[in-house]
Amino acid sequence: MKLKDRVALITGGGTGIGAATARLFAEEGAAVAITGRRKAPLEEVVNEIQAAGGRAIAVSGDVSITEDCERMVEETVGAFGRIDVLVNNAGRGMLAKADEISDEIWDEVVGTNLSGAFRLIRAVLPGMVSQGAGSIVNVSSVLGQTGMKGAAAYGASKAGLDQLTRVLAVEYADRGIRVNSVAPAWVHTPMNKSVRDHATRYEQLKERHPMGRFGTPDEIARAILHLASDEAAWTTGAVLSVDGGWTAV
Ligand SMILES: NC(=O)c1ccc[n+]([C@@H]2O[C@H](COP(=O)([O-])OP(=O)(O)OC[C@H]3O[C@@H](n4cnc5c(N)ncnc54)[C@H](OP(=O)(O)O)[C@@H]3O)[C@@H](O)[C@H]2O)c1
Repeated sequence: MKLKDRVALITGGGTGIGAATARLFAEEGAAVAITGRRKAPLEEVVNEIQAAGGRAIAVSGDVSITEDCERMVEETVGAFGRIDVLVNNAGRGMLAKADEISDEIWDEVVGTNLSGAFRLIRAVLPGMVSQGAGSIVNVSSVLGQTGMKGAAAYGASKAGLDQLTRVLAVEYADRGIRVNSVAPAWVHTPMNKSVRDHATRYEQLKERHPMGRFGTPDEIARAILHLASDEAAWTTGAVLSVDGGWTAV
C-alpha cells in the first residue's frame, strides 16, 4: 500500500477527479478527509469508502473562505491526528471571453483555484513543518501552460498555481515538505459536461489531444497518488502533465 497509515485532506473530493483520488487513496491505506461546499456528494463518497472498509470523513466548506479552510484542517486533525498529504483539487471552470468576464467571475475562479489552494496550504503548513514531513499536490491544468480562447481567468489561476508550487517547493524543501502539481488536459468530469453535450465541440476537443480522447478521473488520481506518496520522494516543484499529449503538440 502506497499511503498506509497516512492522512490526506482532499478538496473537491465529492465529485470527479477529487472523488476518484479519495477512493484510490483509501484503497492505498490512507485515512481521507474530503471537502466541498455541498454535503450530499461528500457523504456519498464517504459512505462508499467506509463500506469498502476504508476511513473517511466529510468536511463541508468553501475554500475561498479563510475560516472554512482553517476549520477543514482542524476537523481533519481532530478526526485523524495529523495531515500528511494535502490535495488542492477544488476548482471552478467558468470559461468566458475576456471582455465578458465580470469581477465576480474573475474573483470566483481565481479565489477558488489559486487563493483557495494558498489558504489551505497556509493552514496545513504549521503541522507539516512540526512533523518535518508532508506532501502537497495541486491540481492545475494544461490551460496554465497553453493558451485557449475563453480561459483568461482559468488559465491565469492555474499558471499562478503552478508558480505557487515551484516557490513553495523551494521554500519548504529543507523542512521535508514536497510540493508538486498535476496538470490534466480534458477529463470526463461534471466540470465539462456542457462541453461534452455539444457534439461538435466535444469532437474538436478530443482531436486536439494526440491520443484522441479525454482522460478519466482515475488516470489523474493515479498521477496524484504517485506525487503524494514516497514513490516521488525526490520529486518537488514539478508540474506533471497528464494530458494525452496535449502539451507535447
Ligand atoms: N475536468 C477537466 O477537464 C479538468 C482539466 C484540467 C484540470 N481540472 C481540474 O481538476 C480539478 C477537479 O475538477 P473536476 O474536473 O473533477 O470537476 P468537478 O467534478 O466539478 O470538481 C470540482 C470540485 O471542486 C469543488 N469546489 C468548487 N468550488 C469550491 C469551493 N469554493 N470550495 C470548496 N470546494 C469547491 C466542487 O464541489 P462543490 O461544488 O460541492 O463545492 C467539486 O467537487 C479542478 O481544479 C479542475 O480545474 C479539470
